[in-house]
Amino acid sequence: MAILKIARMGHPVLRIPAETVADPTLPEIRDLVADMIETMFDAGGTGLAAPQVHVPKRVVVFQVGENRVTGRPLDQPQELMAIVNPVIEPLGEEQELDWEGCLSVPGMRGAVPRFSRIRYRGRGLDGKTIERSVEGFHARVLQHECDHLDGILYPQRMTDLRLLMFSEEAARFPIDIGSNDSGGTVKTRAAE
Ligand code: NI
Repeated sequence: MAILKIARMGHPVLRIPAETVADPTLPEIRDLVADMIETMFDAGGTGLAAPQVHVPKRVVVFQVGENRVTGRPLDQPQELMAIVNPVIEPLGEEQELDWEGCLSVPGMRGAVPRFSRIRYRGRGLDGKTIERSVEGFHARVLQHECDHLDGILYPQRMTDLRLLMFSEEAARFPIDIGSNDSGGTVKTRAAE
């Protein structure tokens, strides 16, 4: 395993569509996922897409701990997942605005509208199909990571660029962005 270098906004690998993986069970994919997980943990991220480590393949890893019904965090170890060739389908029109960060856009935060509920499908490293319906933070992380596979970074999804800011300033001057389920307070977790 190895900690990989993370591409930053401006590197072309973050702008090109990633390639579909023909065989998720290949050792090279297993090794890539192991390195991505180690890199994600080292960098303190919630998720990581292969293009972020200069590999333009449709592979994402993420770790979210959230109750799929209530959208609230769970007091238990977070589930670590690797998905190959993920595809997202929104469930309904509802969107919510919440903060995101990205390891490829270090030191910044932005408020991004995302679909509240999605279904995603893909394949695991064993080649088996993974299919889940999720909401809230879990749904947000998937949308963020899958955007990386299409060459999209979160600022491109923002509808109000006044809400793109340095994390340090965001912490000094909190803004209530009025997220649907935040009860009027600013949520501090951010997808990476
Ligand atoms: Ni990101």
